[in-house]
Amino acid sequence: MAPSATSTVTVTVPASAPKNLSTPQHFGAYKELQPPEYNKDVEEGGAKYPHYLPTWDAETKYPPLEPFKHHEHGQDADRTYPDLFPASGTTERSDLTPSAGTEIRNLQLSSLSAAGKDQLARFVAERKVVAFRGQDFKDLPIEAALDYGGYFGRHHIHPSSGAPAGFPEVHLVHRGEGDESSKQFFAARTSSVAWHSDVSYEQQPPGTTFLYILDKPETGGDTLFANTAEAYNRLSPLFRERLHGLQATHSGFEQAAASLARGGVVRREPVANVHPVVRTHPATGEKAIYVNPQFTRDIVGLKKEESDAILNFLYSHLAWGADFHVRVKWEEGTVVVWDNRVTQHSALVDWENKQRRHLARITPQAERPYETPYQG
Ligand SMILES: [Fe+2]
Repeated sequence: MAPSATSTVTVTVPASAPKNLSTPQHFGAYKELQPPEYNKDVEEGGAKYPHYLPTWDAETKYPPLEPFKHHEHGQDADRTYPDLFPASGTTERSDLTPSAGTEIRNLQLSSLSAAGKDQLARFVAERKVVAFRGQDFKDLPIEAALDYGGYFGRHHIHPSSGAPAGFPEVHLVHRGEGDESSKQFFAARTSSVAWHSDVSYEQQPPGTTFLYILDKPETGGDTLFANTAEAYNRLSPLFRERLHGLQATHSGFEQAAASLARGGVVRREPVANVHPVVRTHPATGEKAIYVNPQFTRDIVGLKKEESDAILNFLYSHLAWGADFHVRVKWEEGTVVVWDNRVTQHSALVDWENKQRRHLARITPQAERPYETPYQG
């Protein structure tokens, strides 16, 4: 259960934050969807993976994240993907949409060699999001799952999410059996859709990201993805050119404040960072829109109305683009791997029978976002 705040805590924007963040007119607002607590007895007795139940360590504080040199394994990959699709032909591949999203069966991720993992990083960068069915990831010791994910980059430790006891690097998404917190949410909001790229406020946000299901409602709780490289390609050359060179502020302050407001924790001081509005993928060279309504606040150097107009247009474009979206349905044993640099996603809280939904995310960080020059 989330610890209660013992005193009033506020999150303030430090002097070191980008100047435009200190204005009171931040665009957008962080949408908090995670329930603040769960029934410990019900969950410990009923969860399929009780050792993955969230704990919130209010005592341990983590220092600011230091920059590190990221190695992009997708650059090293054999693009014929011999380890993913061996000549024996046992792997079953089914593309979910033409531009993005693939479903793979009969391939065990945990048995991939280093070369296979390089191919995985590249394949996911190309297909944006890949659902691997029938995986044993959830049954591995947590150390082994982390060891696997650590190949792709330094583990991100989330500042406010729950984690399995002793494993702060695992980000948990959990809504316990009987949970009714969504009622309160929908009393104030019309939809649970909250498009975002994970923790984009970090200086080096995640790249190849793993999310695996532990327990799920019978129906519902799918995850939506948007292909942000294809979303960029849909823009006119003139508009694309205008976006190049722009930078936007991404803030973790509102998420931290939301955690404190519901009695949760903030394990690391919140940060804000400035990233290019269009980023280039280091392995594929593709360009992608890199602003999202959960964490992006404004475009540096523009007046508020100008910044809001461009961001609103881009958010609307990303949300409307069902012709570059992928909807992933979870099955027992599914591991979804996405490239956080060229996608956005949203959970859906659309089931009302109070069944449990429980997932674990392994979140290797990647390079600091950069853009390469516009080429018309
Ligand atoms: Fe997310």
